[in-house]
Amino acid sequence: MSKKVKSLPKDFLWGGATADFQYEGGFNEGGRGILSHDYETDGSQAHPRHHTMRLSDGQLINPKSSFILAEDIPDDAKPVFLDDQYYPSHQAVDFYHHYKEDIKLMAGMGFNVFRFSVCWSRIFPTGEETEPNMAGLKFYDDVINEMAKYNMEPLITICHDEMPMNLAIKYNGWTSRYVIDAYVKYAQTLFDYFGDRCRYWLTFNEINAVRGFGPTGVRQATGHDRYLAAHNMFVASAKAVSLGHKMIPESQFGAMYAMSELYPATCKPEDMFHHMQARRENWYFIDIMGRGYYPSYAEEIWQHHGFNKLEIAPEDLATLNAGQLDYIAFSYYRSNTTKDGDEWFNVGGSANPYLDETPWGWPVDPLGLRYCMNEIYDRIQKPIFIVENGMGAIDQADDQDYVEDDYRIDYLQQHLSAMADAINIDHVPCLGYTMWAPIDLVSLSTGEMKKRYGFVYVDMDDQGQGSLKRTPKKSYQWMKQVIATNGATLTDN
Ligand code: BG6
Repeated sequence: MSKKVKSLPKDFLWGGATADFQYEGGFNEGGRGILSHDYETDGSQAHPRHHTMRLSDGQLINPKSSFILAEDIPDDAKPVFLDDQYYPSHQAVDFYHHYKEDIKLMAGMGFNVFRFSVCWSRIFPTGEETEPNMAGLKFYDDVINEMAKYNMEPLITICHDEMPMNLAIKYNGWTSRYVIDAYVKYAQTLFDYFGDRCRYWLTFNEINAVRGFGPTGVRQATGHDRYLAAHNMFVASAKAVSLGHKMIPESQFGAMYAMSELYPATCKPEDMFHHMQARRENWYFIDIMGRGYYPSYAEEIWQHHGFNKLEIAPEDLATLNAGQLDYIAFSYYRSNTTKDGDEWFNVGGSANPYLDETPWGWPVDPLGLRYCMNEIYDRIQKPIFIVENGMGAIDQADDQDYVEDDYRIDYLQQHLSAMADAINIDHVPCLGYTMWAPIDLVSLSTGEMKKRYGFVYVDMDDQGQGSLKRTPKKSYQWMKQVIATNGATLTDN
């Protein structure tokens, strides 16, 4: 069979993606304030991460830091650091002090874009200051200037599942409209300082998945509070988009969605119908932000989550309409299956007998990526951007810290090939691909280091011990070739 050419558009953006609290460290340097993730412990699949908090009577509590569902946290609970706990965000893998080396490594692969998130509490330590922290701005200024030396442009995530802890505690996070103003002030500061060097922006990361305490600062578990928080995030995003368009004429705004594919477990009509409803838990977020209005099925979703109506001010509807996204960005790691009776908001679901899984039980489904790209473009008709995709695996480093990660090459080869088919055969406009995460970093869901994604190995263990030395893996050279040929070295799956 003849090999199809996988070559991609000549201005295609190739790069990698990271998040500040998983990558940056330097948590008490440069005037950075405390972030909602700073009280989050390490964990594993068997032992979920949690926040360390103390009630006013002195009792310690450990609310789970699930990024999907909020857990009830009493009003008097205050975060506390415990000496016998390890908090991965504090050091992460220390990009704060390694940024020159890391950017050089990324440039060595030919990246022309690097997606990173700004740490909100590095710019506004409590979220309430009227003036930004200049040392925080200088850090990102240095990062962007370093990237410019290699012609690498930034893709900035304004808010990656986080907020200054003060806003979470004092205002119950995104349930408060005060936080909208705090976010817009923060976004405006970033546009002011970096708008001359940044075209592509993401207002929020995985906004459809973040409803727990760490990401949204919401203490209550009620459905109403979670959807109220989401509404306030939609308004904040739309205000930032409108402002950004005014301040930076060339700017392009997206928000990022966790869009792993969702399949019905069988063709039984009840499973098919259930699948449609469950998928709308994701479409809700994309439809509102991508089309600028609440969809007709919104009330059904609210009622499913235990409340009848969200009161929405008419001026908010106008704001949403004016601040529609320019492109739709998403993460894709896996697919899930769902059947009648499952939760609507469903990550995991029933097993899919046709797919292999990663060591963390994530089904590997490259065709699902092509499916997903088509599905989003068919519905929203705006360019898409794949801003996270990759494989968390256990790497065995030799005594030189070299890793032969053929499984990662295999995963990426299959996914990039599926992406190229969506672009070349299905004609889905796709701005670029940023792989998660080019340099090994801390896992969001488990807080582990051993769940590694990178092209570059970092000598550090689950407790933050190690030299932090960076060593390119086998996949580094492979990816370099893919980028150098703009995809022509990719083969059919
Ligand atoms: C996405 C997040 O959910 O998936 C990242 O945007 C995260 O922050 C990534 O790291 C991979 O998930 P995990 O749990 O393996 O780190």
